[in-house]
Amino acid sequence: MDHAKGSATNGRRRIARLGILALTLCGPAAADPPGLAAEIERCAGCHSNDGRAASLPTAGRIAGQNREYLQYILRQYRLGRLQGLNGGLMTNAVRHLDDAQLQALAQYYAGLP
Ligand code: HEC
Repeated sequence: MDHAKGSATNGRRRIARLGILALTLCGPAAADPPGLAAEIERCAGCHSNDGRAASLPTAGRIAGQNREYLQYILRQYRLGRLQGLNGGLMTNAVRHLDDAQLQALAQYYAGLP
């Protein structure tokens, strides 16, 4: 009896923990670096809200791209190593961002459909 009651309580606790986990994963990500929303808005100027570059087709599609690739390529732009056709635009767009911000942006765009 006591045992059954105990596992019901554990079950509820587990559900509560899952709820917290779901909020952490899907909610307005509490761990996002400050100013991220404003950055995403700037990116959208060239990459569009959906990350599919409707605004500036030469920016390519970044939505749903591999997160590690995005992080890698954003660092390369930040370092000024990609000075191709429009690489300078991207270097300007990310040179003020720190690693945590690049990581969060990569995560965000990788998660878009
Ligand atoms: C002024 C316009 C502009 C802004 C603002 C901008 N981008 Fe870009 N982005 C471009 C262009 C143009 C390219 C293609 C560059 C090239 O030809 O090398 C590009 C390329 C990229 C790539 C590489 C795509 C690939 O297929 O390799 C990523 C990732 C990216 N941008 C992410 C971002 C993020 C994140 C932001 C916001 C912090 C941002 N961009 C802001 C214009 C912009």
